[in-house]
Order: sequence, then structure tokens, then C-alpha cells
Amino acid sequence: MNAAYPKRSLDVEKIRGDFPILKLQVNGKPLVYLDNAASSQMPQAVIDRIVRYQSEEHSNIHRAVHYLSELATKEFEEARVKVQKFINAKESREVIFTRGTTEAINLVMHGYGRAFIGRGDEIIISGLEHHANIVPWQMLAEEKGAVLRVIPMNDAGELLIDEFEALFNAKTKFLALTHVSNALGTINPVKQMVAFAHKHGVPVLLDGAQAAPHQVLDVQELDCDFYAFSGHKMCGPTGIGVLYGKAQMLEKMQPYQGGGDMILSVTFEKTTYNVIPAKFEAGTPPIMAAIALGAAIDYLQSIGMANIEAYEHELLAYATEQVSSMPGVRVIGTAKHKAAVMSFEIKGVHPHDVGTILNSEGIAIRTGHHCAQPVMQRFHVPATARASFAFYNTKSEIDKLVVGIRKVQEMFS
Ligand code: ALA
Repeated sequence: MNAAYPKRSLDVEKIRGDFPILKLQVNGKPLVYLDNAASSQMPQAVIDRIVRYQSEEHSNIHRAVHYLSELATKEFEEARVKVQKFINAKESREVIFTRGTTEAINLVMHGYGRAFIGRGDEIIISGLEHHANIVPWQMLAEEKGAVLRVIPMNDAGELLIDEFEALFNAKTKFLALTHVSNALGTINPVKQMVAFAHKHGVPVLLDGAQAAPHQVLDVQELDCDFYAFSGHKMCGPTGIGVLYGKAQMLEKMQPYQGGGDMILSVTFEKTTYNVIPAKFEAGTPPIMAAIALGAAIDYLQSIGMANIEAYEHELLAYATEQVSSMPGVRVIGTAKHKAAVMSFEIKGVHPHDVGTILNSEGIAIRTGHHCAQPVMQRFHVPATARASFAFYNTKSEIDKLVVGIRKVQEMFS
């Protein structure tokens, strides 16, 4: 056990009682939900918050003086402050609500990249990236004649820091890096990497989709320029995400979309833009989803992110020990620092067959390339089976996964 993760006890049975969906039977078996990296489940407190908002509080925001509009506006802006505190941003105006991580990254590509990255400039990404943090930069590189440089990794799925440092030169203009790999679970040493990039005057965006649900976050300590994450992977609803940006970065960026709320004044001759965060929130935002994300943050904080981190680390260590000791099973991604994700392959069985047979046992995992095809190419596999954990999972669920894997092996022997 890594000393950085002191053992903490969570009342997991009580926590499980908070999640109605965990009572479900799938194919006649109790649901074992191990697909949390794709989307986590929602506790009753968040469901109740959504019902209350829709039943008693819904209206458009920032637009009217009537009771409901003022109430919805207040709740929406309070959700922004909850996010600010959750990530320890300096100011709530540094929190932009988006549809999710993907939109947050695209916002930075359009708002910052298109203004400040030009022909011959270089953008560094890593070999561990999700497609959402590859494709936007590729699109920008194509449009501008810029060049994408990729940080390689070792066989454990850890980025090669010497090679990362060697990529920097006078043309380097941006670093877009995942905090935690969705396909392998690797936790990158982002604080150190951000500091190195800044020494070269290079701004950094961190894709925190797989980090925000699993650990204590402090964007000021990380000192990243941008941090992106999604609500639905942290007990909130789909359709809401966050882009954190340092105020001075957001202020010099171009708006991503034009429309209502992002303007100060409009004439046919000229439009002046609103201040941040409104400048980046054109149109009616996902009001209910933002408020529900605020409720999800309250819920997570009532358990404690440090407790969640320690407990999930214990689960991952247990799962890795059990599964990697099984003959014919290989865990892919064996980095020293990992979070909540275990990718594996069973010799001679396609991951989709693994997923289908496990599903017949009520066990939900994800199979496929996990929107990270370059990671699959690096490990010479078409796909993996991926179990991903949340704080409401238990060791006995991991035991069921092990029994399920044995069943797969028996069926294919
Ligand atoms: N990005 C999500 C995953 O890793 C969907 O499954």
C-alpha cells in the first residue's frame, strides 16, 4: 500500500443506500457497476435536487426580475461558487459552465488556440490522451499549419518525462495533457509538467475528466492555465461540464460562440462582449444540470474527496492484485501512480466477448478502444476490457468480477 494513501474507512453500505440504481437486478443478478470512468451513478440527493428545481424553481436566468428567474439565477451562480471551491479556483468568474469536458477543450482550442497559435507553431499532447484532447488540436494544427508533438510512454503507461522535456523549443506554444488516463488509469505528474511548460512560457490545459471525480483538486497549486472536467463522471447529470481558466487567460481569449448573454451591447455595426464568465456562456445554459452538479459536489464533499481517493486506491490495489494473478489475464497499464481504472485482456478472447459474458452476470464494464485509439496502438491491442471504480464499489464486487472472468475463460477453453 502506497503511504500516500492512508487507509480510511468509508461506510460503503450506507453510501450504496444513497444510490437507487445500485439496487437494480440485471439478467437476474445484482448489478455490479464497474463502468464509472464512462459515467458514474447519481445519488438520491442529486436526483431530489433535480426534481425540486424542475418542480419549484425553473426559469431562465440572468434575464428577468420575476421571482423564479431571480431564484434560478441565484442557484445557478451558487453552483458556480461550489465548483470554484471544489477546485480551489481563485475566483468564481474563472469557472465556465460547458456541456462537458469535450466542449471545454474545444472552447480553449477556438478561443485561445485560433488566436494565439499559428503556422509552424508546436502543440504538445501526450500518447495517453482521449480523442477529445487530440482531435481539436489536430483540427487546429490543420487549419493553422501548426505541428502536433506527442509525449511517448513506457510499457507501464507512464509518460517519459525526459522525452517530454526534450520536446520543448522556441516554437512550442501550448501543452494539452490529461491528468489521469481514461484508458489506463495513469496519474500524470502534472504539477511538475505544468511547472516545466511554464518555464518555457507555454500555457497548459489539463483534461481532468478522470481526475476530478477521484481526488482532491487545487488548480492554484497545480498552476495550470485551464482545467476541464465533466459533471456526469462525478455523480452529476450529463450535459454539464466545467472549464476552469485563469482570469487573465480567459480575458484575452476570443468568445467561442456568439449569442445571448455573452454580449454587453449589439448593433448591426458592432458587438461588444460581456465580461467572463458570461463571455463564454452564450445562449441559455444547462441551468438544471449546473445546479445538480452543485448538489453532486455537496454530496462528494460530505464523504470527503481525500476519503474517496484513499478508498478507491485500496479497491484498485485489490482488483489489480486479484486480476493480474489470474493465469491468461494481462492488466494493461501498470503505472506506479494510478486512479480507479483497470484495463485488461484475457488471452484468446475478444474484449467484446468478455463484456457480453460479464453482462450476463450483471457486471457492467466498458470494452473497446475507450476513445483512446493511440493508446491501443501503443499496446498493440484492438481494444481492452476496462473495469473502472467509484467509492460505492466494494471488494465483494471485485470478487464477482474475478468469478466472471473465470467463467469467460471456461467458456473459451
Ligand atoms: N470518456 C469516457 C470513457 O472513458 C466516455 O469511457
